[in-house]
Amino acid sequence: MSFAVAADACDRFMGRYSAQLAPLLADLAGVRAGQRAVDVGCGPGAMTGELVERLGPEAVAAVDPSESFVLAARERHPGVDVRRAAAEELPFPDRAFDAALAQLVVHFMANPVRGLREMARVARRGGVVGACVWDHAGERAPLTAFWRAVRQLDPEAQDESALAGAREGHLAELFGAAGLRLIEDSALAVQVEYASFEDWWEPFTLGVGPAGAYAGALDDLKRGELQERCRLLLPDAPFTLHAHAWAARGIA
Ligand SMILES: C[S@@+](CC[C@H](N)C(=O)[O-])C[C@H]1O[C@@H](n2cnc3c(N)ncnc32)[C@H](O)[C@@H]1O
Repeated sequence: MSFAVAADACDRFMGRYSAQLAPLLADLAGVRAGQRAVDVGCGPGAMTGELVERLGPEAVAAVDPSESFVLAARERHPGVDVRRAAAEELPFPDRAFDAALAQLVVHFMANPVRGLREMARVARRGGVVGACVWDHAGERAPLTAFWRAVRQLDPEAQDESALAGAREGHLAELFGAAGLRLIEDSALAVQVEYASFEDWWEPFTLGVGPAGAYAGALDDLKRGELQERCRLLLPDAPFTLHAHAWAARGIA
């Protein structure tokens, strides 16, 4: 499982993006004081932290199937009910929350419609389900240069563009299939600055997610080739990467 990695590795890989996306997704879902919310696929807890700031720890729950992430999220956010579970089988009663959010998770669910249906089940009637997934298909993800370089060297390689929600309109389609109503489709934009090429490359060597798994399976020579191909595709350092995630909200 490519998320059975230390929380620190996840932080270095996606942390800077996740921290920026969290308030945008929480705003999209209209999360505000007095509500209860669950962070589905919480990882080490970027969105959990945003929910705690808005609602207080007692009003927040979080789940993730990765044991190391669950331990990290518990340690970072005392008082939050963090459990080890997948979206497809949420360990909560019906209508327990005002909002159920999944940030950069739907594309990793084994069954995205079932996961979203579960999120709708645990949201109260009239509650909000919100999610976002990188625009991999539109090549506007933080990983776009990586997968472009991979395809140049290995045209048969499987990138992330065909994953659930990673193309325009697909997340909203999945929300519809999960029975959500009044679905709104939008996009969230973030940007991250890199001081050097190595600053950008190093997180890919930590084994996180499909990209980390791909890089980790290469021998040293091939990984070196991929690294140099990425260097050619990126601007000279320092540089800023602009990334877009498709986002959707729907009413349970
Ligand atoms: C890219 S990380 C995003 C983590 C966090 N939401 C954030 O924004 O930083 C993807 C997360 O989805 C989790 N995940 C994978 N499959 C899942 C599933 N079926 N249900 C819930 N979470 C899942 C992984 O363990 C990982 O923590």
